[in-house]
Amino acid sequence: MTTPQSGILPAASSNGLFMLFRRRLGRRADQACKQWLAQWPEQVAQLASANPDAQFVAALGFGADLWPELYGLDKPAKLRAFPRIAGAIHPAPATQCDMILHLRAERFDVLYECADQFTQAMGEWFDAIETIHGFRYRDQRDLTGFVDGTENPEQAERASVALVGAEDPTWIGGSYLHIQRYVHRMESWNKLPVKQQEAVIGRTKESDEELADDDKPLTAHISRVVIEEDGEELQILRQSLPYGSPSGDKGLYFTSYCKTPDIFEKMLARMVAPTADGRVDHLLNYSRAVTGAAFFVPSVDALKRLGD
Ligand code: HEM
Repeated sequence: MTTPQSGILPAASSNGLFMLFRRRLGRRADQACKQWLAQWPEQVAQLASANPDAQFVAALGFGADLWPELYGLDKPAKLRAFPRIAGAIHPAPATQCDMILHLRAERFDVLYECADQFTQAMGEWFDAIETIHGFRYRDQRDLTGFVDGTENPEQAERASVALVGAEDPTWIGGSYLHIQRYVHRMESWNKLPVKQQEAVIGRTKESDEELADDDKPLTAHISRVVIEEDGEELQILRQSLPYGSPSGDKGLYFTSYCKTPDIFEKMLARMVAPTADGRVDHLLNYSRAVTGAAFFVPSVDALKRLGD
């Protein structure tokens, strides 16, 4: 029985901390680095049990370039770099980075403490290149004012959508993670009448209901990301959170876990490139991706194997 990292499956948290790391120039993830990473799940478990009210959970993921230094030639079947989408007319940049720490809790102080310990310990090998504090906004809304996460899989389906299964037995219980930091153009969004905002998203704003097919443009966000194959809707598990400061960037830290990277890549392609049906996602007239990265989040057991 393999155990997935605690940060993947649970329902949305009030706080999230997203940290991207890049290998320091000329440094390799040596034995000492691997030993430290192998004990990390234990440290997470201790922090969680010392602060039960915080509901602290964590996920640590590694990118395709770093992977061989950690696990040699043994790699998840579909681990690859963030996709470059052919024909894209909206930006979907790939950020040069090797590792992500994704922490969630009801208390931000616990996230801070955990991230600080991690960053100090990893400082010999990795530089932190971006730290973003995500927060729940109202009743789980994005800063656009629309509820985000409604159509996420629920209960047992979350695991079957997000976790690698028997198809890749060495990496069972792991998950492919994609992130993109979006910066919203709040001024132009706020000038848009609600009816038009609803046509951009494909759902009603206040009551969060899906628009009827006749009212839902092919350019609506929902129309772009709902993809049916063989009669089944393709699914990802989103753990996105709003972030921002009143005087700086604000938007959504998009976060998706899945048992395969293929689905995120297909959805993103239908958002940014008009190759499928001549349309792109009109949400991207109001929000722009400024980072993007792909990782594999190994199971707790696979993380511990780094110490062998
Ligand atoms: C649904 C917002 C980016 C995939 C939604 C919904 C909102 C939303 C408001 C409707 C409620 C819900 O079911 O969660 C945003 C914003 C984004 C963004 C503000 C960035 C600016 C993305 C990206 C992807 C994606 C990059 C995947 C590549 C999905 C999926 C759904 C969804 C799969 C559920 C569709 C359904 O089953 O009805 N998003 N989203 N979103 N979004 Fe996004």
